[in-house]
Amino acid sequence: MKNIYSNIFSFNQKILKRTVKALNKGDLAGLPTETVYGLAGNAYSKKAIKKIYNLKKRPKKNPLIVHYYNSKMANNDVLLNDNFFKLYKKFCPGPVTFVLKRNKKSKINSLATANLSTVAIRFPNHWIIRSILKYLSFPLAMPSANLSSRLSAVSASDVFEEFKNKINIIIDGGKSKFGIESTVIDLTKKPKILRPGIIDSNKIKKLIKINFSKKNSKIKSPGMLRKHYSPGIPVILNKKPNNIRYAHIIFGKKYKNKKNTFNLSKKADLKEAASNLYKTMRIIKKKGYKKIFVTKIPNVGCGIAINDRLLRASK
Ligand code: TXA
Ligand code: MG
Repeated sequence: MKNIYSNIFSFNQKILKRTVKALNKGDLAGLPTETVYGLAGNAYSKKAIKKIYNLKKRPKKNPLIVHYYNSKMANNDVLLNDNFFKLYKKFCPGPVTFVLKRNKKSKINSLATANLSTVAIRFPNHWIIRSILKYLSFPLAMPSANLSSRLSAVSASDVFEEFKNKINIIIDGGKSKFGIESTVIDLTKKPKILRPGIIDSNKIKKLIKINFSKKNSKIKSPGMLRKHYSPGIPVILNKKPNNIRYAHIIFGKKYKNKKNTFNLSKKADLKEAASNLYKTMRIIKKKGYKKIFVTKIPNVGCGIAINDRLLRASK
């Protein structure tokens, strides 16, 4: 189907071949996943990884997630352990990322992992990304398809907004189902959640022992500390705006609908709210609002991930 963008394509055999060819050459592509859109490149190629960091303006010390079709493909690059298999069986392919020890014979480019001795791996569950991964002889390094510190992209046009024509291929896979990034779990020692995501941590706790120590003894996910997920205008939490020029993000039925209110979920469904979060903030910015005020979101289930992103956006 034709659209107004010269680099956004619907998925078909022809575009599959073209994407595989581009990735083989070390070029990048904007691809849909069930969490958010990714900026994909060959994880074994220095050329591709350099392009990812440059295009995103991402600090080199913030490592990338490496994406595979299945665990067999990941076996050469990381040391898979018991905890990994317990979670893999239950949640994969799906919105969860595992930090594991790097295998000595791994071919992953060291730039992609910021020279760490660990690698973050994921098995995404969107049919388009799975079709592509199946055709490749290498895994895909794939950060969220946005400029560093900005909102993640949840549609093909969001990806275009971030990179314009600097990438040749963006595949339209519809609106991302979950709309926030995967849960990142460190499995290199006592399991620890480094980034909350759509999966309720109680479901993870049922399968493996999780370390919930509050003290951040060591920076494990470098990307998690800085200002992040920013819409480019100030975000103020747990307050109502006193001016109609400021947008108000609300949740549930408690608030009256006004011109400047944006409801993440009228039926107070946290999953629905997560899927609307970035999209809503992008719309607000485009409408020219100068600030975003956000009502309190329940801090349970994936509300924990929503609050994590909002807190970073407000920094
Ligand atoms: O849902 C997602 O995970 C999306 C889609 C595209 O797959 N990707 C994504 O990538 O969110 P990115 O680059 O935006 O976030 C990756 C996070 C960062 O916080 C990074 O610091 C952390 O994963 N990370 C990567 N490798 C790591 C490692 N070896 N140890 C600890 N954290 C790591
Ligand atoms: Mg990101």
